[in-house]
Amino acid sequence: MSNNTNRRDFLGFSFAAVAAVGGAASLVGMKQAWDPLPSVLAGGFTDVEVSTLKPGNPITVKWRGKPVFVLKKTAQMDKSDRDLVIGTDRFTIAIGLCTHLGCIPAWKTDVWKCACHGGEFNASGKETFGPPPKPLELPPFSLKGTKLVLGETGPEYEKLKNAKA
Ligand code: FES
Repeated sequence: MSNNTNRRDFLGFSFAAVAAVGGAASLVGMKQAWDPLPSVLAGGFTDVEVSTLKPGNPITVKWRGKPVFVLKKTAQMDKSDRDLVIGTDRFTIAIGLCTHLGCIPAWKTDVWKCACHGGEFNASGKETFGPPPKPLELPPFSLKGTKLVLGETGPEYEKLKNAKA
């Protein structure tokens, strides 16, 4: 009787242990299936350190498959209400797709020129020539020190999103 009881208890504990391990493994598997892939997470946000940019030399970064222009303005470039001001520096941030038909303008001596139909945008991203109907668009961003996080909506973006380029 005592042997039977011990054996039954052992089997019961064994089944419980196997069930607990199986349940935990299932939960881990489900969480991995629900979580976005690392490539998806990485694609949502793009960090840009702006303190190292040279005035007048914009960079193009990729954010969610789109080009984004980030320009540290020179002292000679016009100021704009849509400038991001960090300390004494002014920056233009803009999605690098022409607002006419979506070509990618190229930086040529202080303006972005669109090769498709001759449109131009000044250093603030404002349309200044040709068919583009409006300025280059502002991507959502937040600012952490001197680091832009494209894809996150911060107070600096909220302040600039309705400003004129
Ligand atoms: Fe840029 Fe037409 S797409 S001017």
